[in-house]
Amino acid sequence: MEEMVNVYFYGKRYSVPGDLTIIAAWEYAGYTLKRGVGCRHGFCGACATIYRIKGQNELKTCLACEKQVEDNMYVASIPFYPQDKRSYNLEELEVSDQIMMELYPEIYACIGCNACTKACPQELQVMQYIAYAQRGEIEKCAEASFNCVMCGCCTTRCPAGISHPYVGLLSRRLTGKYIAPKCGHLADRVKEVNEGKFDEGLKELMQMPAAKIQELYNNREIEK
Ligand code: SF4
Ligand code: SF4
Ligand code: FES
Repeated sequence: MEEMVNVYFYGKRYSVPGDLTIIAAWEYAGYTLKRGVGCRHGFCGACATIYRIKGQNELKTCLACEKQVEDNMYVASIPFYPQDKRSYNLEELEVSDQIMMELYPEIYACIGCNACTKACPQELQVMQYIAYAQRGEIEKCAEASFNCVMCGCCTTRCPAGISHPYVGLLSRRLTGKYIAPKCGHLADRVKEVNEGKFDEGLKELMQMPAAKIQELYNNREIEK
């Protein structure tokens, strides 16, 4: 028989099977999830959640689709965390040592507490990628933040008010557009798309029954 555990969702107690993720346990308890859920596999970052285990003082963060319930777990979700995303036109930016100072100056107020790193369910070195951004090491920041799912857990804990995922995102955009070597295949393919090479094929696909599209997909040529 499966082991049941007591969990508290928004302060209310439920008995749920102990092998469920928090999301599955919410649904087991009768919640219909409309916000704070997406891919269910740790990719979309929609399910940022805070919890505390009774008797422990630490407030922890996690992705609810990845985290298994525990006995005496007090849980609340953060379906949207109001982060501070600056507006910019990537086409008009230049990679320089000043770029982060201009767009995200608050990163220089980091006090090195490492709370962001501890909060990250992706186990990213968040404080480190902010340090790269501070030093204008854009490519390193892009690489270190590459697996960020934009959940916002780090931001909830930062005393300097930094919106870390947007700093990482800017560095990845700058790296993709200005720093990383250009991909010849991609440029060729974009040119072909713009010249209309695939228009006919797309039109055909739009009129195909779903089963036929599925068959084509399953038997597609896969590049080695
Ligand atoms: S860096 Fe922040 S926003 Fe990105 S996955 Fe980690 S906690 Fe979530
Ligand atoms: S939580 Fe904020 S202040 Fe603390 S190390 Fe991370 S970025 Fe710096
Ligand atoms: S639902 Fe997408 S990361 Fe959890």
